[in-house]
Amino acid sequence: MREGGLDATRERLLELAPGVRAIVADPTVPVDGELLDAAGEELAVVANFAVGYDNVDLEACRERGVIVTNTPGVLTNATAELALALTTAAARRLGETERALRAGEWRGWDPGAWLGTELSGATFAVIGMGRIGRRYAELVRPLAGRLVYVARSPKPEAERDLGAERLDLAEALAAADVVSLHAPGGPETRHLIGAVELERMKPTAILVNTARGSLVDSDALADALAAGRIAAAGLDVYENEPEVPASLLAAPNCVLAPHVGSATTKARNAMAVSVAENVLAVLTGTEPPNRVA
Ligand code: DGY
Repeated sequence: MREGGLDATRERLLELAPGVRAIVADPTVPVDGELLDAAGEELAVVANFAVGYDNVDLEACRERGVIVTNTPGVLTNATAELALALTTAAARRLGETERALRAGEWRGWDPGAWLGTELSGATFAVIGMGRIGRRYAELVRPLAGRLVYVARSPKPEAERDLGAERLDLAEALAAADVVSLHAPGGPETRHLIGAVELERMKPTAILVNTARGSLVDSDALADALAAGRIAAAGLDVYENEPEVPASLLAAPNCVLAPHVGSATTKARNAMAVSVAENVLAVLTGTEPPNRVA
């Protein structure tokens, strides 16, 4: 049965669920006990079309003996590249400049206009050194004067290969010119960046989030941007997608993208293949390649 996409309401999913053996979800679909129970005992696997799986209640799946899979690896480059794009766009004020140009406000080359931040020699802080964080670190390494990272455990390879230094979050925020978030979503990382953390950052610093909206307290971020407590932000993810807070929409120094981190043809095709491989493996009784629970 194939039905879904953004038009499938929660009610429709609950109606369709009874008797299915696999649920293919994406970050917009909460997979909770209610949906699992609606599917019933035939359900063997929830295959998430994403590397993140904070939309899936893992405990509820475990309790019902349902396997959960994700799509790691295949979207690493796409997402890290978008983080780099948001970094440079925020640093060079590309949102503001493009809006002004399109509005007919550009009157010609001006030595004092649209001055941004140069990234060469900057200190980059990578928060969360998993696959995507590591790839972002590789991409910014040629620019970085200093590269620091925050992770639950040391990453000796990143330290050896990229010269990355492990700091705690407070130290990294205070040191960085660019802070890029690559930690998973979920209760443990909710509002990892709030008013206190934004206060620790330099007034010239840039915050980039391509991970999950829940990592950042959006009200605190909007306040910090408006007050000049940080210089700019580049966001691809939001706390209550697809809602984007009016205060962020109104912030000229915030570059906004609509959760397109993995939106390249190559990555999305590979994610689809990965979902299919995971579902087929479970339904034929073999270990799926990307099991998370
Ligand atoms: C993911 O894979 O978690 C991404 O956010 C989807 O684009």
